[in-house]
Amino acid sequence: MIKPCKQIGARIAGTGHYLPEKILTNADFEKIVDTSDEWILTRSGIRERHITADNEFSSDMAFEAAKMALADAEVDPKDLDMIIVATVTPDMPLPSTGCLLQEMLGAKKAAAFDVSAACSGFIYGLSIGSSMIESGKAEKVLVIGVETLTSITDYTDRTTCVLFGDGCGAVVLEEGEPGEGVLSTFMQSDGGEKELLYIVAGGSKTPLTTERIEAGEHYIRMKGDGLFKYAVRAMVDAARHTLKEAGLGTEDVTYLIPHQANIRIIEGVRKRLKLEKEQVVVNIDRVGNTSSASIPIAFSELKEGGTLKKGDLVIMVAFGGGLTWGAALIKY
Ligand code: ACO
Repeated sequence: MIKPCKQIGARIAGTGHYLPEKILTNADFEKIVDTSDEWILTRSGIRERHITADNEFSSDMAFEAAKMALADAEVDPKDLDMIIVATVTPDMPLPSTGCLLQEMLGAKKAAAFDVSAACSGFIYGLSIGSSMIESGKAEKVLVIGVETLTSITDYTDRTTCVLFGDGCGAVVLEEGEPGEGVLSTFMQSDGGEKELLYIVAGGSKTPLTTERIEAGEHYIRMKGDGLFKYAVRAMVDAARHTLKEAGLGTEDVTYLIPHQANIRIIEGVRKRLKLEKEQVVVNIDRVGNTSSASIPIAFSELKEGGTLKKGDLVIMVAFGGGLTWGAALIKY
């Protein structure tokens, strides 16, 4: 039973995604760092990842994915009330990529901003966007997850560079009936574990200097094993919270869309939630880890594949730097 507390639902009106044309395969990485296709595939599940062209940035990818989602939703950008862009790789610190996208789309009346919650960013954005609709403060909201992770990746560090890719996913939310669309969301953070995934340089505390750039302090650093241990428990916990809030159980779930960080984490989450392999949407082999973009890309691909049916229950679960984690339960 779905709790009848909401007067307005936030329905999924459209989805879109964009992946850059250029692909880096595991074989390409064998020429860049001391690694092997076998190591990358067995440890992470990744075969290849897309990377942006030299003149392609987060706002460009967001523009392409947004156009696809808006066309799918049959929504004119001029009718958008809000644009939320989840990213840790904005085009620049100021203005936000949300504002850059607003101008590119001509979404004149939309309030636009960025959300920084690493790989959980899209779930955080979806939670904010759906709450705005449910509260009656917005009727149409565009939520984007976009990353140009290659811009913060150290291609001499084999422990991180083989994992990350670029891409964007988008969702258009609009007013719907209670009990359709976003049924419940959950967000949580643990700043005490911030050293598991971080970038030292580039902020007000540690501005970019030649020395810091030469030392590679503007690149992402990760303690993969620590994250691994935390991720499965946190993602399962988040999924259970959203299901409980909606008065539903794992037996009601049609599809699980996990953040695509590592196939072994995905498998761990699937097993603990007692779901079948066929219920889990996996594209990590083709796309790699695209942080906040990973869930909306997978969602858009699922929709494009034609298997998603009206009424299907989709649970999205994310985990990332911060630490941050969260989940969203959607009745399509
Ligand atoms: N090729 C070959 N060997 C490698 C590579 C590589 N690319 N990278 C590391 N190794 C070596 C290590 O140096 C280590 O060697 P050693 O035993 O001689 O010291 C060995 O392989 C094992 O390394 P581990 O780090 O223990 O490997 P693990 O099985 O943990 O896999 C991985 C690493 C894939 C990073 C995994 O820990 C993981 O996926 N962690 C979670 C990542 C995650 O969830 N991130 C959060 C989201 S990302 C975001 O927010 C942007």
